[in-house]
Amino acid sequence: MTQSSRLSGFYKHSTDERLATVADVAGLTDEEQAILRGAAGLDIETADHMIENVAGLHSLPVGIATNFLINGRDVLVPMVIEEPSVVAGASFAARLARAGGGFSTSSTPPEMIGQMQVLDVPNPHIARFELLARKDRLLDLANQTDPVVVSLHGGARDVEARVIEESPVGPMLVVHLIYDTRDAMGANTVNTAAEALAPLVEEITGGRVLLRILSNLANRRLARAWCVVPADTLTFESDGRTFEGHQVVDRIVEAYALAAADPYRAATHNKGIMNGVDAVVLATGNDWRAIEAGAHAYAARSGRYTSLSQWEKTPDGDLVGTLEMPMAVGTVGGATRVHPLPKVVLKILGVQTARELAEIIVAVGLAQNLAALRALATEGIQRGHMSLHARQIAIAAGATGDEIERVAAQLVRERTIRLDRAQEILSRRVSESANRQGNE
Ligand code: MEV
Repeated sequence: MTQSSRLSGFYKHSTDERLATVADVAGLTDEEQAILRGAAGLDIETADHMIENVAGLHSLPVGIATNFLINGRDVLVPMVIEEPSVVAGASFAARLARAGGGFSTSSTPPEMIGQMQVLDVPNPHIARFELLARKDRLLDLANQTDPVVVSLHGGARDVEARVIEESPVGPMLVVHLIYDTRDAMGANTVNTAAEALAPLVEEITGGRVLLRILSNLANRRLARAWCVVPADTLTFESDGRTFEGHQVVDRIVEAYALAAADPYRAATHNKGIMNGVDAVVLATGNDWRAIEAGAHAYAARSGRYTSLSQWEKTPDGDLVGTLEMPMAVGTVGGATRVHPLPKVVLKILGVQTARELAEIIVAVGLAQNLAALRALATEGIQRGHMSLHARQIAIAAGATGDEIERVAAQLVRERTIRLDRAQEILSRRVSESANRQGNE
C-alpha cells in the first residue's frame, strides 16, 4: 500500500464512498468489490461444501480500521465484528500509536505442536530416552505425510517427550511433534503426521497411543507487537474536563496493573484484546476458537491467569505497550480457500505469509487494548459506547435512513438509551409528520 492509512474523516463517509476508497488503495477488481459489498459473497452451494446440514447463510459487517502503521507500512485492517465501538477504538488507538512511529512486530517460525498420549508404558522414563534416540526416524516418517509442506521448506522439526507422573489414570508419556506448517494454520497436517507416527511410537515405547491431535496452546508459534505512545498525544478534553497526557499514562499503567494481578480483571482485559484479534481472524477465514483457546491458555502459562499485554511508562514519561501471544493463523487452506471474502481481506491487508498476518493481528489486539484502557482509565467506557449503542437501539426500534442518526442523537442527549424510549421518539415523529402532511 503506497497511500497512507491515515484516512481522516473516513467514518463520516457513506459505505459506497468508503468501499471506493478501499478499492482504490488496495487495487480491488469489480468482482472483489462486489464480494466486499455482499453482492457476490459466499453462496449456499459453496457453503454446503464447507460444513454439514447447511440450510442458510449468516453475514456480519466488515469495518475498516484506519491509521495503522506497522513496521513502517501503512495497513488498512478489515474487521468482521457485530460489536459497536471496536473498529472505532482500533482506529483511534492506531492513530495514537502512529504518533510514536506505529507498531513494531516480530514472530517465531510457524511451528505447531502435535500431541501423542502414550498409556500403559512399562518404563516411561526409559521409553522417553528411547524415543529421543530415534528422533531422526520419527522426523523422517512425519515428513513423508505432507510432501507439499516439506517442499515449501516446512515440515517436522523436533520431537519432545514428557513423563506425566500423576493423572486420574496414573502415569503416562506425552510426545510432542514440532511441525513447521508454513503459511497454513496446519491442523490437518499436524493431525495427519501425529496419526502416522503413532504405530512407531507404540513400537518404541511398548505403550498404547490414545490421543493424536494438535495442541491449541501454540506456544512455539508466537507473534509480538509493541508501540510507544508519546504522553502528549494522550491529552484530551471530555465534558469540559482536561485529562493531561502524563496523567493518562499513569492511569493506563495503573489500570493494566489490576489485570496483571487479578484474574477477574484479566479476563475482561484479555477479552478487549480478543475483540481486535478475533475480528481480523474472522475476516481472514481463520479458526477463531483455536486462537481464543491458545490465547487464554497462554495467559495462564505461569499457573495463574493474567494479562496478555503489558503497559509501562518509559523514562521519558511516554506509554509503552507490549503484547505476545500464540497466533496459529494461515493464509492458505481452510476457509481462506473456499470463502470468497478472506482472499479480498488478505489483499487489502497486503499480506502473503501467515507470519505477516499473525503480526498484524497482534498489533490490532494491542491497539484494541489501548483504546479500552484509555477510555476506562479516564472518561469511562460508556461515553464512547453510547452513540453507537444508541444507533443500534434506534435500528431495533424500526428507524431507517436519516431517522437512525436523529433518534440516536436524541437518546444520547437524554442519556436514555432504551428501546421503549426509541420507539416512543419514533412514533411521535411519525404522528408529527402525519399531522404536518394533514395541515398542508
Ligand atoms: C468490551 O467488549 C471490552 C472491554 O470490556 C475491554 C476492557 O475492559 O478492557 C471494554
